[in-house]
Amino acid sequence: GTKKREAFSGRTVFVLAAIGSAVGLGNIWRFPFVAYDSGGGAFLVPYLVALLSAGIPLLFFDYAIGHRYRGSAPLSFRRISKFAEPIGWIQVLVAFVIAIYYAVILAWAACYAWFSVDQRWGETYEETATFFASDFLQAGNGFGFDFVPLITIVLVVVWALTLGVLLLGVQKGIGRTALFFIPLLVALFVALVVRSLFLPGALDGLNTFFTPEWAALRDPSVWIAAYGQIFFSLSVGFGIMVTYSSYVKRKSNLTSSGLVVGFSNSAFEVLAGIGVFATLGFLVSSSAGAGWADVSGGPGLAFIAFPALISQMPGGAIWGVVFFLCLILAGLTSMISIVEVVISSFQDKVGVSRTVATLVVGIPMAVVSVMLMPTETGLQNLDIMDKFANSLGIVGIALIALLAIMFVFRLGPTLRDHLNSVSSFKVGPIWIICMAVVTPAVLAYSLYGEVKALIDEPYEGYESAVLNTFGWGMIAAILILAVIFTLLPWRGAKHLDGPPET
Ligand code: PHE
Ligand code: NA
Repeated sequence: GTKKREAFSGRTVFVLAAIGSAVGLGNIWRFPFVAYDSGGGAFLVPYLVALLSAGIPLLFFDYAIGHRYRGSAPLSFRRISKFAEPIGWIQVLVAFVIAIYYAVILAWAACYAWFSVDQRWGETYEETATFFASDFLQAGNGFGFDFVPLITIVLVVVWALTLGVLLLGVQKGIGRTALFFIPLLVALFVALVVRSLFLPGALDGLNTFFTPEWAALRDPSVWIAAYGQIFFSLSVGFGIMVTYSSYVKRKSNLTSSGLVVGFSNSAFEVLAGIGVFATLGFLVSSSAGAGWADVSGGPGLAFIAFPALISQMPGGAIWGVVFFLCLILAGLTSMISIVEVVISSFQDKVGVSRTVATLVVGIPMAVVSVMLMPTETGLQNLDIMDKFANSLGIVGIALIALLAIMFVFRLGPTLRDHLNSVSSFKVGPIWIICMAVVTPAVLAYSLYGEVKALIDEPYEGYESAVLNTFGWGMIAAILILAVIFTLLPWRGAKHLDGPPET
């Protein structure tokens, strides 16, 4: 309550923690296939437009809110207005849902780092595909609680590590982890990418990736994909950056930090695209029996295509361990940031210590995650929660937050002045236009398209009872809980109206 808010020791640590949150599974496996599916080299045009018109401006927007109002998402929005508090809680609950499934992907990566040593997944693409779905996940559909023991145990370890870091606090836990993990990740990943460029077939892969399909730029869905990738990849618009910037000291250059974070994340993404496609070029030219049509498709990239090529490569064992280690390093820092959103909001609202908040919030999160994800139906649950949390949750709440702040509470100029009062890179009318017009328009258009698609046809053909539970039911639960949490009294934070003095 009256204790001073925790803080990062300085700007470098904050920037590294923000990069740690941004650089995650989205960079390494999501970007390459999104780009490939949406025009290859030509995708870089909408991608850059999305980064400059929405990604970086939203990063500034989140920083300004967290830094000015100095609270977790619900507290910051409460200080803006008591009618804005539910916005913060919706962000927290979306983060809750993402954490539930993000953790299990880390658990898979840890298992696959271990499997790289003996390559028990087989030699060909067909074998690695069967291994992933049947032997490893034992994947099926419907409802069920048949646990896969190995994944369950590793998932518990992932949660223990995440909560262990968070128990240590903002600087000693989140800050130090980023300070250590991010340089290590960059070194390992650059080594992997350089190595991949010398594989036979690498050039073919790069040609496949970069050959621009200019016609794709006339397709609105390609532009939506670019904005979607930027939102997900920068972790903007749903509380993470609000939370982290509330731990930044008063006089801190916010916009130049944002530029560093935004461009580092994109650099990492393009680098991943190069590495992934150089490697896939090798896979397609090898005897694994995979064509471009097989390897380009989504999540299978990391857990099906890469295992096949690890088996084909000289020195594949080491390469595989390093690749999955990169996924773990990148993913763990993102995971930490997602869970911190939930913990810090509980701390602010209830007024308990970090230790109590971490245990009281973290353990139930871990339990829900362990109940739903390492089971035989876990992949289905993950797929549905991911789809609804991203396409409806993140997009919807970013849209609501922007409209509320810019038009209802009319804080555009206040936030602009706040950014400019501490930063060297100044923002002006262009930033306001991006936040009030361009980004809301793109978000509204894509939200409309996603809702319509999800209503018209059951997502991926899953059973409607399952979709109603983990998809629509989850969205309804988020909205109801956000209202309930708003109605509970504030026992932690003081000064609920307007930015705090200190
Ligand atoms: N930005 C992270 C990535 O690119 C993903 C992420 C999503 C992190 C949501 C936190 C919250 O992988
Ligand atoms: Na990212």
